[in-house]
Formats: sequence, structure tokens, C-alpha cells
Amino acid sequence: MAINKNVEKILNEQINAEFWSAYFYLSMSNYFNANGMPGFANWMKVQFEEETFHAMKMLDYINERAGRVILDPIPEVPSEWSGVLNVFEETLKHEEEVTRLINGCVNVAIEEKDHATVNFLQWFVDEQVEEEATVGEIIDQLRMFEGKGHGLYMMDKDFKTRTFTAPAE
Ligand code: FEO
Repeated sequence: MAINKNVEKILNEQINAEFWSAYFYLSMSNYFNANGMPGFANWMKVQFEEETFHAMKMLDYINERAGRVILDPIPEVPSEWSGVLNVFEETLKHEEEVTRLINGCVNVAIEEKDHATVNFLQWFVDEQVEEEATVGEIIDQLRMFEGKGHGLYMMDKDFKTRTFTAPAE
């Protein structure tokens, strides 16, 4: 059964939001590179890869359900922040907004009685819990290290090792 039009529409909007997130984090990665923090830059590059994965996962799903993917322009992303803590605070704010958007997608799928999409979206619901928790922990650590160069240096060193692994389907 082809995908419901309202579900198709909101998932298309979500694809755009996921690509925007990818751009947002890639911009943060460049900000860190320009400010001598290669580990944080790497962490954000992996974040970019994760968001691209999210967008593609949704895109593949629409195609699988015989729907139509329309790629809209990606709105401009910020390129300047006031420091590491500010970047991660903005990241958390953004992820909270993404959680709201994902919940909105689930609501539409429920309204349209599209159980396959409700199921499909559960992966994203779980992913958001994890994303918010991870970023929240980083913010706690950064607040602890505030004004302490060594802690920040150690974190930067640690973040150099983060790699992207596509989650199992
Ligand atoms: Fe695609 Fe960071 O949620």
C-alpha cells in the first residue's frame, strides 16, 4: 500500500530537517577546525555523518513505501559561536527541537493509522533520547572544565577517536 500523502509530506519535511542538522553540525565542525580544536571538529563531523544517515534512512523508507521524495533547499546555518560550551548548548537546544519534530511525525502517522510508519519512527524516537543524553553529558563535563584548559585539551584529544558506524538495520 502506497504511503499516505500527509505522512509522505511530513517525512519529506523531516528529511529536510535532518539534512539541515547535518549542515548545522558540519558548520560547527568547521568552526572548531578554525579555532584549533581538531577533536571537537571530528566529533561534529561524525555528527554530520549521523544526520546524513538519518536523512537517508527516511528517504529510503519513503521510496520503499512507493512514495515520492522531494528535496527542498536547505536553509542557511549559523557559522559563529562564542565558545565550546555555547556550541553544545545550541546542539542540545537543536536536538530538543528535533525531538519535537519527530514526535510530530509520529502524531501524523497515528492520525492516519499508518502503523508501519509508527513502527519505523520508533527508531528515531529512541535515537533522540540517546542524542539528548549524550549532549547533556558533554555539557555537564564542559561546565566542570570551565576555565580549565587542561580538561578541555583532554576532551579534545578524546573526541579525536570518535568514528561513525552505521547502526544495524
Ligand atoms: Fe537526526 Fe540529531 O537527530
